[in-house]
Amino acid sequence: MNALPFQEMRLKEKGELGLFRQQLSMNKGWKFYDGELADFSYDAIHREHYAQPQWIKSGNHGVSKWGYDDSDWQEVQIPHDFVSSRGQFAEHSPASLGSLVKGRGWYRKAFQLTKEDDGLCLSLEFDGVYRNCSVWLNGHFIGRHLSGYASFSFDITDVACYEGPNVVAVYVDASENEGWWYEGGGIYRDVRLVKTASLHIPQWGTFVQTELHTDYSSALITIQTEIQYSDEDAVSLELCSAIYDPNQQQVGAVSSSAVIEGEGLITLTQSITLENPLLWSITTPQLYTLHSRLSTGGQVVDIYKTIFGIREVRFDNDQGFLLNGDAVKLKGVCCHEDHAGVGVAVPKAVNEYRMLRLKEMGCNAYRSSHNPPNPAIVEACDRLGIVMIDEIRHTDTSEEALNQMSRLIRRDRNHPSIILWSLGNEEMNIQGRPRGVRILNRLQRLAHKLDPTRKCTYGMNAQWLTMTDFHELNGFHIDVHGFNYMMLRNKHAYKDFRAKYPGQGLLGTENASTLSTRGLYTEEQSSVPLHVAEHALPRIIWSNPDREGIVSAYGETYPVWGARPEEAWQAAAEEDYVAGLFVWTGFDYRGETIPYEWPSVVSRFGIMDLCGFAKDIYYYYQARWTDEPVLHLFPHWTWQGREGDIIDVWSYSNLEDVELFLNGRSLGKQPVPVYGPVKWQVPYEAGRLTACGWQQGKLVKETVVRTASEPLRLDLSTSRAELSANDEDVCIVQVAVKDQAGVFVPDADQEVSFTLEGPGIILGTGNGNPLSHEQDKTPQRRLYHGLCQVLVQVKGAAGIIKLKAQSPGLEAAQLVIQIHQADPLLPFVAVIDKEQATRNSSMQRDAADGGL
Ligand code: GAL
Repeated sequence: MNALPFQEMRLKEKGELGLFRQQLSMNKGWKFYDGELADFSYDAIHREHYAQPQWIKSGNHGVSKWGYDDSDWQEVQIPHDFVSSRGQFAEHSPASLGSLVKGRGWYRKAFQLTKEDDGLCLSLEFDGVYRNCSVWLNGHFIGRHLSGYASFSFDITDVACYEGPNVVAVYVDASENEGWWYEGGGIYRDVRLVKTASLHIPQWGTFVQTELHTDYSSALITIQTEIQYSDEDAVSLELCSAIYDPNQQQVGAVSSSAVIEGEGLITLTQSITLENPLLWSITTPQLYTLHSRLSTGGQVVDIYKTIFGIREVRFDNDQGFLLNGDAVKLKGVCCHEDHAGVGVAVPKAVNEYRMLRLKEMGCNAYRSSHNPPNPAIVEACDRLGIVMIDEIRHTDTSEEALNQMSRLIRRDRNHPSIILWSLGNEEMNIQGRPRGVRILNRLQRLAHKLDPTRKCTYGMNAQWLTMTDFHELNGFHIDVHGFNYMMLRNKHAYKDFRAKYPGQGLLGTENASTLSTRGLYTEEQSSVPLHVAEHALPRIIWSNPDREGIVSAYGETYPVWGARPEEAWQAAAEEDYVAGLFVWTGFDYRGETIPYEWPSVVSRFGIMDLCGFAKDIYYYYQARWTDEPVLHLFPHWTWQGREGDIIDVWSYSNLEDVELFLNGRSLGKQPVPVYGPVKWQVPYEAGRLTACGWQQGKLVKETVVRTASEPLRLDLSTSRAELSANDEDVCIVQVAVKDQAGVFVPDADQEVSFTLEGPGIILGTGNGNPLSHEQDKTPQRRLYHGLCQVLVQVKGAAGIIKLKAQSPGLEAAQLVIQIHQADPLLPFVAVIDKEQATRNSSMQRDAADGGL
């Protein structure tokens, strides 16, 4: 008979033995200090204990001790990006990184544990901190983490205080960059406290592999479960793995027993066959849940839940990407993760909004370029039916790089949306060289070992055909060839590859890089002079000399490696043997301002701007990527003072013919070209421009743009006016200006101020203007080409939020947002806020430390 571990014995005596796992959100109640602290390791507290306060002794790190004076620190909520919140733009900060001054800072949070927690295993889980952070708890150093993108956790069991307050302090050094885009700074992804019994399933401790029978009538589910035990005495255990279908019905279960002789980790493998499984796909993203129930002595001590999907992914040399046997063209985008108003600290609801915007466009694939993504993005892809390439940040084989990759794969390998691991992107120093062969080979072997169910790719650029020859000849065979761009605009590059390697599949890992600016059609519209960077000149193609020097919304500008949207699609994605492509990028992001330099601070590569507002090229993709009739007409039709001037009018459509009418007069019907827009040149005359879309002789759709008169009133709209009172939900509000007849005023650029009543805060604002140096956190924003955005976050109880928008000379607008009672996404850890009151009380401090 095995003895029960100490804490289980004790709880059993008290009749409380049962389920221990608790996951608590640590997102609320943080304080932040911007900069370095002078005296952080030996503040006044220690002088009472040590004659020499600067001695570094166990548990004497001052900032993370109860009682440290942080009264002048700022109150913040995670996710938090101090670089964008601070919003200090400076010409000397590299434009490629967003021209925001980076820096270092401290976070601090007090929280409460209870006596019942004593004897449990406790860990702090961080989804991502940018970057190079050191973490202390109650004066003790608990760990350091370098990567700004990998998720990590630290065990705090031994140094936690079980009868008093606890304080965690995190020092973040965001002064260096890991990439070549804006990367933010701070605790910019969620933090959790996880409590388990000493016998438990560790973080990422399950691996669910699914194998479909050839006719999909059944699936063999193989489950590997790690079980961690941290006491000395042997323990016998039972693991019951139960599978719940998408309707939460249990559809299979298996149990196994084992004994752990003492402190250690074992892995159990079990399998279950499911009949008639519901398959995960892009159109029906069915999700199953595995409940791993761990018990000892007849009592359950842990239930660990893993969401997974059952699907078959194949890359076929002739048919491209096959999902559950069907060829699916990957209509993908690459993305960085920052958004207007919040920087890289993107709350779940905002990530959800971004993914929905992509899905509405017909996008079915996402590449987390060029780093491990926020787990919320992977979860959204699982739920919404978007497949994903999960990419590492560092293509290297140092212990650090291998460790980061292992953690990414262990974290994400149960997600049905993940279809490929990407070993990196455009590593020009190593690709096509012996070093590259060695490094890529080692990474691919590691990925296969950690996840035998998925293949790898790598985004190779420049002379990728020649480099592929080198790799193939020298023993590096990537599972699925990933190519960035058209190899110096060689439109036959994919065909040339096919001719040379007929038996090997490929995909476009990065394509297009079309530059465009929302709402910008003429040079006059650009209020700030645009300086084309000297160094960018030879690297940029203005394919229409009439608009040379401006990055207009017509999408005619691209770097020498890039293309117009339709060119990219034609060259890369039409052939069946190409799995698909990934457009650079879904959304604009801070940094990479090419072709402009300061004062530009945001890229123009996005199909949408930084707010997720569609640029015109959005509709090119939507027309090609969806089956719904699309008929987009641009530009706007408000050009006072330009009467008689010729305006380029374009339409993106997936219908057969489009006829254009100006004030009721037909300007001709044209067939929609296979690639590209329908184009007219129209002498401007105020009124109505109407496009009629025809399919098989029938009028299917009509789109009208009208001349706006004087701006009259503000207009607020949102796709989600009902939120949950969970302190994290966010409402994304679009702000526009309308005239008397309700026509959108396209060039409105007034400053709008926001006020709010009710249980919420203004989390941030944005307008997608790549030149804007306005502050994300102040409650006002200038409209950019008629639009801006305000993010409203719930705070406190259920109720009603009234958001008001005002601007001199315009009628104000109000939006009512309903906040419903709801459980938090995760319960919040108990916060303590009496620290200042007790700061100087040594009794209190000793109690907190458990000191004698
Ligand atoms: C690619 C690179 C991306 C981005 C893009 C801009 O070469 O992989 O990160 O810089 O160019 O066109």
